[in-house]
Amino acid sequence: MNDVDLPTALCLAPGLLEGKVAWITGGGTGLGRAMAKRFAGLGARVGLSGRRLETLRGVADEIAAEGGQAICAPCDVRDAAAVDRALERVRTELGRLDILVNNAAGNFLCPTEELSPNAFAAVVGIVLHGSFHCTRAAGRHWIEQGHPGAVLNIVTTYAWTGSAFVVPSACAKAGVLAMTRSLAVEWARHRIRLNAIAPGPIPTEGAFSRLFPSEKIGEQYRQRIPAGRFGTPAELAELAAYLVSDAAEWMRGEVVTLDGGEWLRGAGEFNALLDAPDSMWEELRRRTGR
Ligand code: COA
Repeated sequence: MNDVDLPTALCLAPGLLEGKVAWITGGGTGLGRAMAKRFAGLGARVGLSGRRLETLRGVADEIAAEGGQAICAPCDVRDAAAVDRALERVRTELGRLDILVNNAAGNFLCPTEELSPNAFAAVVGIVLHGSFHCTRAAGRHWIEQGHPGAVLNIVTTYAWTGSAFVVPSACAKAGVLAMTRSLAVEWARHRIRLNAIAPGPIPTEGAFSRLFPSEKIGEQYRQRIPAGRFGTPAELAELAAYLVSDAAEWMRGEVVTLDGGEWLRGAGEFNALLDAPDSMWEELRRRTGR
């Protein structure tokens, strides 16, 4: 599918997130940026966290230019005290908090036997500890204030299948999935909802530069996707906006897969026959007398 054929349809009601404040980690680039801009377009005011202030500023400026409001609350999500300060800033400058999106991630390809303890800790620190720090900070605030909240965690389909060569990320994302489901029950009594999206490959500079070693391998990844294409940040942002909105109030502890069918393609026992030549089917018909 060419870029020009990519779907661009939007389905959410204008003003869906009016009056809400959303805090998005990893909000300066890629999927975080796409979610921040879409949430703002739907009326939310946005707090952007990430390690690089300049990058966050760029997104805040884009949102302002489109008539929205965003503030920058830089932090490294691995640092719990810095996370608390970032949340304090979002609340002070935007007056409230309704939504948290745990999007900040770290990942790279590496044979597991070559990983240093620090390499494992870096990825797990960002993905699992970071998501915990932000969720804990937001949850404590909501519980203290008696205010409802919605958390959206960005995981991945290999959170449940595991995957070779990204073991720190697979372990961390599986942990985030467990946290999503655990707290969806534990914090429901505080009117706090948690859900997750498990995206397949969506081209962004951060992910593709680390996870796609060559164009040829990227093309092999693409061919494995039944939809015949990668996803787009806009598709993810649309689903994310629905999941954090009041329209999804009854959705709890759910993980929505958004991957063009990729993980099922690898899972079905006979799916490899999609690559079989016509002659195999002819031979099969002959043998079975059809
Ligand atoms: N292969 C193996 N080890 C690697 C590595 C790679 N590609 N990249 C980093 N490491 C190791 C480093 O050698 C270091 O271990 P050591 O101290 O034993 O040498 C450890 O990981 C930490 O690396 P460092 O660069 O100091 O950490 P950082 O905190 O600056 O960066 C990362 C964290 C490594 C996760 C970095 O890739 C990052 O910042 N990623 C954020 C964005 C991202 O990954 N986006 C993709 C999302 S899908």
